[in-house]
Amino acid sequence: HRVRLEVREEVDSTNAEIIRHRPAPGAPEIPVCIADHQTAGRGRRGREWQSPRGQNLYLSLGLTFHGGFAMLDGLSLVLGVATAEALEVMGSGQVGLKWPNDIFLGNGKVAGILVELQGELEEGVVQVVAGIGLNVHMKQAEGVTQAWDSLSVASPGVDWARNELAASLIDSLVSAADEFADSGFAAFRERWQQRDIFAGKSLVASQGGLAGVGVGIDSSGNYLLETEDGVTAVRAGEISLRVQ
Ligand code: BTN
Repeated sequence: HRVRLEVREEVDSTNAEIIRHRPAPGAPEIPVCIADHQTAGRGRRGREWQSPRGQNLYLSLGLTFHGGFAMLDGLSLVLGVATAEALEVMGSGQVGLKWPNDIFLGNGKVAGILVELQGELEEGVVQVVAGIGLNVHMKQAEGVTQAWDSLSVASPGVDWARNELAASLIDSLVSAADEFADSGFAAFRERWQQRDIFAGKSLVASQGGLAGVGVGIDSSGNYLLETEDGVTAVRAGEISLRVQ
């Protein structure tokens, strides 16, 4: 796929911008929006995504898939793999993936992914917006409770030029989305598991208290816990996992 790129100095949210300019069904190009600053950047679970000017990358793509809503969980893992691979090619060193789709480097989270449903065009044809927020040069953030880091701090030996980074990232995300649309999740399972930060850790689920040791993902991208009663799958979107 080719992309149609919109670069903005300021926007409320690049995800919202893509949703406002939803492409016509069958449009040949993937709309992509990058902004230098977001006034209402959104994160998962209704949280805000801090989006200071001149420091980071805020990027969204409008994607269409023929596979119904069920494939969206797999998609967010695929985009995590694509982001990790782009960073590693640029010299970040081994990136960690925290199920379902947080990207870890150095002392914490360097990037987050938010996949939002735009709508169903017809039976089984879904349009989504996939947004990535990547901390590139950010050194301070207020009100962020989770451990976080930035590329230029975690991997200081690399020249993290934002234009070059955006180009590599878009390239990697678009090829991964195309590969996922053609061949499904299977080819991404191993690539995801190589970077699994939960593997071998004692974990507990946010609801129901299910506890076990992390043993990777299944062929649909569900997370697998080895519990006292055997291996149990945890579905993305249902519950979150944390290290016990
Ligand atoms: C998360 O909570 O981990 C997901 C964060 C996703 C943030 C990105 S920044 C670009 C795009 N536009 C938004 O408003 N959110 C996503």
